[in-house]
Amino acid sequence: MWSLPFVSSALLAVAPAAAFAPHIQHPDQIAMNTYERGVGHFSEWSRATKKEFLIDWQAGKESEWILVQGNEGGDLDSMTAALTWAYHLGHSTLNTSNPIKAIALLQTPTHALDLRPENQLALKNSQMTSGHEDLLTIDELPEDPETLSPKLKGIVIVDHAEPLRKWQKAKILSIFDHHVDRGAGPDASPRIFEKTASCTTIVARQMLDELEKLDEEYHMPHELLELVLSAIAIDSGGLDEDSSSEADIKTSARVLARSNWKKKDLNQVMEGLDDELGDAKKDLGHLGLRDLLRRDWKSDLVDTVSTNTPTVSLGFASIPYSMDYQIDKTEFEELFDWFAIHAAWTAEARVDVSVCLNRYKKDEDGKKRKIREIALVVRDDVRIDQDQADSLFQVIYNALTTNGSITLTPWHRASELAPRQMVWTHESDAGRKVIRPIVEDAVMAWE
Ligand SMILES: *[C@@H]1O[C@H](CO)[C@@H](O)[C@H](O)[C@H]1NC(C)=O
Ligand SMILES: *[C@@H]1O[C@H](CO)[C@@H](O)[C@H](O)[C@H]1NC(C)=O
Repeated sequence: MWSLPFVSSALLAVAPAAAFAPHIQHPDQIAMNTYERGVGHFSEWSRATKKEFLIDWQAGKESEWILVQGNEGGDLDSMTAALTWAYHLGHSTLNTSNPIKAIALLQTPTHALDLRPENQLALKNSQMTSGHEDLLTIDELPEDPETLSPKLKGIVIVDHAEPLRKWQKAKILSIFDHHVDRGAGPDASPRIFEKTASCTTIVARQMLDELEKLDEEYHMPHELLELVLSAIAIDSGGLDEDSSSEADIKTSARVLARSNWKKKDLNQVMEGLDDELGDAKKDLGHLGLRDLLRRDWKSDLVDTVSTNTPTVSLGFASIPYSMDYQIDKTEFEELFDWFAIHAAWTAEARVDVSVCLNRYKKDEDGKKRKIREIALVVRDDVRIDQDQADSLFQVIYNALTTNGSITLTPWHRASELAPRQMVWTHESDAGRKVIRPIVEDAVMAWE
């Protein structure tokens, strides 16, 4: 709903109201509609860049390009951070003797992009073409990352700590991230790891610092500024005290001052954006279990130390519902069906190890408790055999249950699980940022 005055007035100032549907569209609806072509400066830049990149690729000039990559989960933060930095690299060097060609690459497959209603809404607010059409997605990449990597000028990674395996032959030029530093790209510059709510904060701050040092500032479209504010708002709960760092707050204030909303109060703007995008983000009731698994999925290969143990493929899903609720969403509404649907997905994704990180709120005496679950499953039919799978499951099991940073309790139906399946609950704040390194380190050390 365009009920927030600052949103509607900003949009009406630049485009006819008829260009915008008066309600949040359901992803299915968007897919069925013909594409609404973006009208803003930002949309035009994005489309022109995509075209130029594809022209250069066809002409064998991929070595002139830098790909700015978000993570494959493809949330608003990842997408915005990548777009922002690509925009900055190109524009800040435009009139120099050494102009940079940079493009943002969304690593999320096109079919999974529709599973994020908040991205659809934020792109619409920024007057981008619907369906992420202005943006280069991994499915549209004209060449396999493995062979493209070494030909590129380099990559910049945002919102993840190390490039996916398929990009490992690319030169890492810069890293901006708010996860745990895994030591990738030691020579990258800038190379920033900082605990912020939103990775976009780190990128936007660097962009503003560099922009303000230029002899002449390049044009910063208000659609980009508003997208930046949206990304920070949704990851910081509207700049709420508990989840925001000082950098999130300061950077948002600097961005706001340049936007069309500059006369508004920062907190009001950020809370408004968080409410609006947060509502869209939570609108997942129509998704089945398979889509919930795919919606926020991150996977990669991990090498193990021993020559006896092969490289293993690891996947992480983040799902904002409990196991019980997810089971209710399956066709037969039974535990076996959860594992059947999950197995079909992990077979398709070709992962040996899958970890589902669930979170939900439980009402208790009028108070809401935040509960998290970890569902660990190891397959024996992808890259490893049954003995290896048993041993690997035990190694990860031990790493999770003995790590001092979380206290796990077996799930209330744990006794019904099969070998190499486990589900725990916990009430710490540990999400994927904490759990993934524990699992990865355990896999790497597996002998
Ligand atoms: C770059 O050059 C163009 C054309 O001469 C000019 O319009 C623009 O203001 C310049 N931009 C910057 C950032 O110097
Ligand atoms: C928990 O796991 C992380 C990642 O592997 C590790 O760095 C940390 O030392 C572990 N903490 C404890 C108390 O075992």
